[in-house]
Amino acid sequence: MALRTTPEVGGMGHSIKRKEDPRFIRGKGTYVDDVVLPDMLYLDIVRSPFAHAKIKKIDSTKALAIPGVLAVITGQDLAKYNLHWMPTLMSDTQMVLPVEKVMYQAQEVAAVLATTRYGAADGVAAVEVEYEPLPVVVDPKKALEPGAPVLRTDKKDKKDNHIWHWEWGNRAETDRAFTEADVTVKQDIYIPRIHVASIETCGCVAHWDKVQDKLTVWMTTQAPHAIRTVFALVAGHVGLEEHKIRIISPDIGGGFGGKVPVYPGYVIAVAASVLTGKPVKWIEDRMENLQADSFARDYHITAELAAKKDGTLTALRIKTLADHGYTDAAANPSKFPAGLFHVCTGSYDLKAAHVEVDGAYTNKPPGGIAYRCSFRVTEAVHTIERMTDLMAHQLGMDPAEFRIKNFIKPEQFPYKSALGWEYDSGNYAGALRKAMDTIGYADLRREQVEKRQRGELMGIGISSFTEIVGAGPSKHFDILGLKMFDSCEIRIHPTGKAIARFGTKSQGQGHETTYAQILAEELGIPAKDIKVEEGDTDTAPYGLGTYASRSTPVAGAAAAVASRKILDKARKIAAHLLEAAPEDLVYEPGKFSVKGAPDRAKTIQDIAFAAYTNHPQGMEAGLEAVSYYDPPNLTYPFGSYICVVDIDKGTGEVKVRRFVAIDDCGNIINPMIVQGQVHGGLSMGFAPALYEEISYDEIGNVQGGSFIDYLVPTAVETPKWETGHTITPSPHHPLGAKGVGESATVGAPAAIANAVVDALWHLGVRHVDIPITPPKIWRLLRDNGVTE
Ligand code: CDP
Repeated sequence: MALRTTPEVGGMGHSIKRKEDPRFIRGKGTYVDDVVLPDMLYLDIVRSPFAHAKIKKIDSTKALAIPGVLAVITGQDLAKYNLHWMPTLMSDTQMVLPVEKVMYQAQEVAAVLATTRYGAADGVAAVEVEYEPLPVVVDPKKALEPGAPVLRTDKKDKKDNHIWHWEWGNRAETDRAFTEADVTVKQDIYIPRIHVASIETCGCVAHWDKVQDKLTVWMTTQAPHAIRTVFALVAGHVGLEEHKIRIISPDIGGGFGGKVPVYPGYVIAVAASVLTGKPVKWIEDRMENLQADSFARDYHITAELAAKKDGTLTALRIKTLADHGYTDAAANPSKFPAGLFHVCTGSYDLKAAHVEVDGAYTNKPPGGIAYRCSFRVTEAVHTIERMTDLMAHQLGMDPAEFRIKNFIKPEQFPYKSALGWEYDSGNYAGALRKAMDTIGYADLRREQVEKRQRGELMGIGISSFTEIVGAGPSKHFDILGLKMFDSCEIRIHPTGKAIARFGTKSQGQGHETTYAQILAEELGIPAKDIKVEEGDTDTAPYGLGTYASRSTPVAGAAAAVASRKILDKARKIAAHLLEAAPEDLVYEPGKFSVKGAPDRAKTIQDIAFAAYTNHPQGMEAGLEAVSYYDPPNLTYPFGSYICVVDIDKGTGEVKVRRFVAIDDCGNIINPMIVQGQVHGGLSMGFAPALYEEISYDEIGNVQGGSFIDYLVPTAVETPKWETGHTITPSPHHPLGAKGVGESATVGAPAAIANAVVDALWHLGVRHVDIPITPPKIWRLLRDNGVTE
């Protein structure tokens, strides 16, 4: 670490008064950037302009001359403590700060520590780095060609850019089904890189307190406990052992999977706090967030579907190339390097399927996070829903009737898919018929015929998706070996009020409301008397966090199970108070009464008081329980979406005229929250369908690295969503509930893409990759001689 040698002369005087006031200390219950501690230092990061380059020299002289700049930290400094590399969640390795070379544009090169935010930013601008550019590999296909420059030269035996090969299903059976098929369709589908673009960027305040011998990190994380364990594994050797680490994840302004990984900024801030003994704040700006944080998707897919003449689907075959950037930092369960992509048979009763995925390194930031998605289920749904539509059109069948013919039927559940998943429950035709009735499907098809005769371009698209959420059963699901259970701990106080703590972490999904509802329903304690807490590793029970819509399937179930444990004890206390046998009591939420004598009753509040004042001899005092819930299976929510688009022949613009979404997430805990989740999810499905993409030019310059060119739609562009639901409970979840948070993001893009292809099919268009931008459509129309 280069330290300043001139005396400290104070900050630049630009600080915001309210935030700099040392008395203004806030902790939990605010955003990370609201946490301000006395003597806090600020960290800012120097980033590489090159996508692949040797670092020849880092000169900190000018930066250290800036008032307020205290230090410039480099990879060499971290290497002294063996902290310059860290493990990723997929057991790959990722640089914290480089010692030899950078691997993507905007990668961290060095960090500046200063007494003010502005001082740190000025310091970053003044650090001089000498680079020697290296050949850049952007295209994952080229990355795997013989002779391609080997990117991970840090891996001694690595001779190519291939990360892993993974396959699932029965190849021979699938190949045979294709040989025997009457009709087959084949399509290349690219699902581009996108970014979660949450309102709040990432950041942390790391505070190593020498006196307490404790590190507290307030950070934007969706998985505080897992992060604590990872920190201890990475830095235990320098004294940061797990019992000395407290991770607090305060309010989070959106996570969507992007706040699961550990980013270098967190590690540097912790290292800087340990080295200086002062609290250190690091907050990304918008462009750093878009350019350097983990990405989602980036799947190059070749899919084939086989069917009989009568329209019965028989087999699915998929080959995929996954661009992971320079390291595999996806947040998938360890056993599944391609996440849950093998749920790609979707809602259809396919007898044979085989899927292969290869991971490749390129000169891009790490990718593969589960953006509002159960580890690649969005890619799976997009593929099967596009392919089903393609096959229906190919056969000249109506896409809705074609789907209904091939759906897994209600009586087939629990249903074992050709790729090994056991779907818990479903009524796919029920949801699709409801969507068709709501939108007036038959009338729309008639209108489409008339419009086509007039030369107008109107399309109707369907997506009947099956989701897979609630990771997951411990026999198959772990991240870095940590099993994917989740937890709830309930303590009922003597006065009948309660606190419940969870291993999950809301990022705006309303857990405080819905968890309290579950407890209120189970225990009969009013929701207003229940405090729900998440996100503090010193107080919450261990859990794997919130992503991939797992909170309700796993922690929601833990809430029900812990409540029921409390009721078991409450029954015994009630029996003691009522001088009756426990089995002679009847329970209704909030009250035990003697069978046949309803007036002889004790409320949960009476029982809570007695648990501390008058409990039976031989029984431990108190009324508490904890559940670490290991789900027996995943839950399989589903839905049918229908979208109507009109295409402007002059500009190529696609206008979503109507969008009906019928979702089924089993029993609903809070209808308003579920509707909110679906609205938000639909908007996050609409965005990549028509607008969002992060791409790179041939030398690795990021396109889409700011909100000027990464087009997040606003309320003006977003259509009105028409939502509804059906209810098919999960048979194994204690509440019959399934997750819902990501359903709409997963299901929506295919409905829009299918509508666009439906509008253009008669012109010979068979597929359009998302995002379906006006120039893409305009070129297609021009090539078919249609533009006005
Ligand atoms: O893990 P995450 O919270 O993102 O997803 P989720 O479990 O699908 O829950 C999202 C929100 O919807 C939570 O507040 C749930 O409690 C609520 N929800 C509900 O009210 N009923 C359901 N059947 C599923 C979720």
